[in-house]
Amino acid sequence: MAQTASNEIERGSWGSRIGFILAAAGSAIGLGNIWRFPYVTGENGGAIFVLIYVACVLFIGLPVMIAELTIGRHTQRNAIGAFEALAPGSAWKLVGVLGVVTGIGILSFYSVVAGWTVGYFVKTFAGEFSGSVSAAQSEAIFREFVSNPWVAILLLGLFIGATMYVVGGGVSEGIEKWSKILMPALFCILLLLTAYALTLEGARKGLEFYLRPDPSKIRAATFAKALGQALFSLSLGMGAMITYGSYLPSHQRVPLSAFQVALFDTLVALLAGLVIFPILFSMGLNPAGGPGLVFVVLPTIFGKMPLGWLFGTLFFVLLALAALTSTISLLEVPVAFFVDEKGWSRRRAVLSMGSLAFVLGIPSALSQGGISALSSLPGIRIGFLDLMNAVFGNYCLTIGSLFIALFVGYRWGVEKALAEIERGGGRFAFRAVWAALIRYVCPVAVIVILGYILVTGQYF
Ligand code: PFF
Repeated sequence: MAQTASNEIERGSWGSRIGFILAAAGSAIGLGNIWRFPYVTGENGGAIFVLIYVACVLFIGLPVMIAELTIGRHTQRNAIGAFEALAPGSAWKLVGVLGVVTGIGILSFYSVVAGWTVGYFVKTFAGEFSGSVSAAQSEAIFREFVSNPWVAILLLGLFIGATMYVVGGGVSEGIEKWSKILMPALFCILLLLTAYALTLEGARKGLEFYLRPDPSKIRAATFAKALGQALFSLSLGMGAMITYGSYLPSHQRVPLSAFQVALFDTLVALLAGLVIFPILFSMGLNPAGGPGLVFVVLPTIFGKMPLGWLFGTLFFVLLALAALTSTISLLEVPVAFFVDEKGWSRRRAVLSMGSLAFVLGIPSALSQGGISALSSLPGIRIGFLDLMNAVFGNYCLTIGSLFIALFVGYRWGVEKALAEIERGGGRFAFRAVWAALIRYVCPVAVIVILGYILVTGQYF
């Protein structure tokens, strides 16, 4: 008992239950909800994608989140150490290795987009979007902004630097302090923007696209994209929730926490769509506009709506901070590994992993017009940032989640996992449902989806 207590103090632990929920929600809620969800929805048929997405959250994401948090809380270790603790000397730790690599991979391109949000905060604050900004103007502003190589690299560096600063400060003070205020504020401003967007002329068409499913729009890739998006949005498949779960004291109810995080995360994504699509259709823009979508669509209303300057500035500042609470968790995965397993100081781990992500992020930063060879890679015809996004942000998380489900379902065993879930928290009402989902539904669904992608070759 005394040892556990001192261990918790040394590794750090969450100050309170609400602190943990907010920090985990802070990891989950970020650019994935507000930047990625709307444009992926726009590219993949609208409402039908949303439907498949919600199913993926419920039947795959939520059970995997419970699995990750449980592994973390039981072992009190990082992504790699946790597998080593439960299956010593086996190859299962490669799942953790994949997670650490994926964390750095995602951090690299994610911070590029996060850098754009900082740039857009400055632009809105400076009044660049006041007055009427047409869709074409907004598009031109975005293109010009992201294609400037120096600005892109500077903002990337700034963002990774800020992430390193917070992660270097330790677990509860750094991460928890931020999330408590920011997430609820972001939610409120989204509600406000939704209310405004729904009053726009032409909003109806946007709502139809977003909410009336058209099954004829399903393609092979739709399922892979929806699943990848759900895992990305919930921060699953790379051990971020294992790491966060490892700072959880044993008396907290894992399933309830996981449910709340998933619910909050999904609500924010759905709200973001409810803001974007009415505006998009009222401006006559193309829903399949790609990664620039949010940055092109939103400024067109900040010029028009009452107090738009203020809301625009607030929105981008909150989005940048929501991105920060996500990059913190991305960096925490490799850092926790080097601190726990390799005996590195937190400072050394933060400096080296942060620098690595920065260097790896440079080609992504230059792929939006800075260097044209990086905008459309030979053979695959997508840009470097899109490639990183697909490889690390979709496939690595999907493969990681598959192995986490297999590990808990067949190696560690659902009975042991359930014993950990119920330790200190009382009976888990959905124990049989969760066990069936983790043993059968998750692995089969993921294998079928990945197999289909492999056969059809529609990777991107
Ligand atoms: N969930 C974050 C978002 O939606 O923005 C991104 C992310 C963070 C993915 C942490 C994976 C992760 F481990």
